[in-house]
Amino acid sequence: MISVFGLGFVGLTTALGFAQLGFQVYGVEKNASRKQMLHEKRIPFAEPHLPEQLETHLDGRFRLTESAQEAVVNSEIVYYCVGTPCGADGAADLTDLFSALDETMLHKQEGKKLLLVIKSTVPPGTAENRILPYLEARGWKNGVDFSLANNPEFLREGHCWEDFIHADRVVIGCADSWSEQKLQALYAKLEAPVCAVSRSTAEFIKYLSNSLLATMISYANEMSEVAERIGGIDTAGAFHILHMDRRWAGAEMASYVYPGCGYGGYCLPKDTKALYALANSMGLELPLLGSVIRTNEQMPEVIAKRIMQRVSPEQQVGILGLSFKPGSNDVRDCTSAKVIRLLLEHGYQRITAYDPIAISEFQACYPLEIQYAGSLDEICGCSDKLVILTGWPEFKAVKASIPDKVLDYRYL
Ligand SMILES: NC(=O)c1ccc[n+]([C@@H]2O[C@H](COP(=O)([O-])OP(=O)(O)OC[C@H]3O[C@@H](n4cnc5c(N)ncnc54)[C@H](O)[C@@H]3O)[C@@H](O)[C@H]2O)c1
Repeated sequence: MISVFGLGFVGLTTALGFAQLGFQVYGVEKNASRKQMLHEKRIPFAEPHLPEQLETHLDGRFRLTESAQEAVVNSEIVYYCVGTPCGADGAADLTDLFSALDETMLHKQEGKKLLLVIKSTVPPGTAENRILPYLEARGWKNGVDFSLANNPEFLREGHCWEDFIHADRVVIGCADSWSEQKLQALYAKLEAPVCAVSRSTAEFIKYLSNSLLATMISYANEMSEVAERIGGIDTAGAFHILHMDRRWAGAEMASYVYPGCGYGGYCLPKDTKALYALANSMGLELPLLGSVIRTNEQMPEVIAKRIMQRVSPEQQVGILGLSFKPGSNDVRDCTSAKVIRLLLEHGYQRITAYDPIAISEFQACYPLEIQYAGSLDEICGCSDKLVILTGWPEFKAVKASIPDKVLDYRYL
């Protein structure tokens, strides 16, 4: 039996994924409204395939518990998929993770060994330097009361289910064969290779991956800024021709080496900052990663300036796209909110925004003095200029039909 603490994008996918693989899973979620929605078989965010999986497994192999106690008492393996947001100094804030560990310890039965698996993204060294000492200081015996493992998640929002079920690789960071065997057994039915490494290596691989993705994006954005400034350059065309190099071999990675509005969402901003803060705390400067972060942080200003050069404050501006990427209604750390805020600060008061699925999430997250359009037709009709900030495919048709009205900062 498995327990999963935290039923967001990662936790819900993991819980339903293990249910689909034949395991009994308990889900523990502290957010009451999120839990209520799940009880009603509704997914609290837009994510394909999860609705059908919830319909199939809820109250069967997947049980939502009201008490962490029920979950812990009945489980041998406990997964932690809680948020690890960016703290004030850029470092990862592990408050939710430690509170979930506290809850586990509260309900653990004498004489039973638990496998604690961290799936949340945590800075390299967290298991060794922070969690182990924390648990041991509270009287828990490593290897007797618990074993600790790391199992980072690489799924992409909008593709959570397929990325879990058809993972490219599964990374398990273990310090003993008992943990390794248990985790190997969990993933035995997947086709993906399971890579067993040390806990710190597993934690590191996740940051290795996200930092590289962020670097590719900032590189592309820096180059697009040069191209735009020079003028007479077909920026999108140049990148498409760059991707024809056979070394990319049609790789989807190429999509990260493409200009846009900067990376946003939950993971890349916070994970790059957390790694940077960790390195700094050890006296390492990381000039490259520092520049990647700075380039990204400047992007909203770069985009806002480009808009202000082409649109006057009296004109009606239509913002196309609010979510941090197409196919998602996640608006955490999205560029559109930052660009809109800058436009408002510069006296652009006539702003209307449209997104196919993220308007209510955006309104809840950012109380900005703007209007919202209920449809693409409505925003096209009421705007003097349309500004594409999220690369939803349907915006391509708008660009094709009224090119003079559209400023496309996603280079669709
Ligand atoms: N979203 C992604 O694309 C993605 C991909 C890979 C890894 N990750 C990592 O996975 C982790 C979770 O990300 P997410 O996007 O699923 O976050 P999320 O914010 O969508 O979900 C986290 C959930 O944990 C719940 N929670 C917090 N403390 C709890 C507790 N003590 N008990 C029970 N529930 C608790 C929250 O209420 C929330 O519903 C993060 O570390 C993130 O960096 C995310």
